[in-house]
Amino acid sequence: MLTIDSIASLRKIVGQWRGQGESVGFVPTMGNLHEGHLKLVEEAKKHIDRVVVSIFVNPLQFGPTEDFSAYPRTPSEDASMLGICGVDLLYLPATNEIYPEGLEGGVYVEVPNISDELCGFFRPGHFRGVATIVCKLLNQVQPDLAVFGQKDYQQLMVIQRLVSGLNMPVKIMSVPTVRELDGLAKSSRNVYLSEDERPNAAMIFKSLNLAADRLNSGSRDFDLIVEEQTTFLTRLGFRVDYFSIRNPDNLQLSHESERRFVILVAAHLGRARLIDNLCCPSG
Ligand code: PAF
Repeated sequence: MLTIDSIASLRKIVGQWRGQGESVGFVPTMGNLHEGHLKLVEEAKKHIDRVVVSIFVNPLQFGPTEDFSAYPRTPSEDASMLGICGVDLLYLPATNEIYPEGLEGGVYVEVPNISDELCGFFRPGHFRGVATIVCKLLNQVQPDLAVFGQKDYQQLMVIQRLVSGLNMPVKIMSVPTVRELDGLAKSSRNVYLSEDERPNAAMIFKSLNLAADRLNSGSRDFDLIVEEQTTFLTRLGFRVDYFSIRNPDNLQLSHESERRFVILVAAHLGRARLIDNLCCPSG
């Protein structure tokens, strides 16, 4: 595996691959890799010849009171995991390579409406930061395929709109959430959970399943389902940002006449802000 930190080296290497007629896949990450990320790499490898992974903790997607400086950084463990997985190129850009004009003065990308709801409401500016970095990285790597996890469902939709709205010639592939044995979605932020909090954290997935059971058995009282699960989580010590039942294609609030739903939740447990979602019916 080659490791580089500049756009110039990235372009040179990817250009050589392209010259040999090879296709290129890309997995952008913020590091502190876990099985969820490795699954993205594994899926990418099924479809293309070469895989590029980036690690960049993007300051633009963190709010002023959020965990940018505390965000777990494990560069050497990450590099050895990626080497073992057969990644071809690890791209580790510095902040001034990505934002040469600084965070304030540069160009940014905004995907309207969908970015303002759910996580976007509780984390103002977050999806602007995500759309901007993903747009920059896609322009830098110019992959045929880019792979993202379904755990960040809203992020995935923002990125799909970004790519279609700007006519970017890349296919976006999504990969199902990888979970711990008790159902907790794998996430870099799980390291913030204390030993006491950890068993309770799995209840976030339980709450999604309880809501899905209600929908599957015919209930369309969305407000009641949301209230029940918000209460369930609150009693367990979560501070719920939202629990919401939405249309899986556009993230609008669900209507009674619809048959497909995505249930989304974001809740704080101690220092950790956990997000998860479940499509219903599944599959
Ligand atoms: O999902 C993430 O890890 C990040 O939001 C991403 C897509 C790498 C952009 O910084």
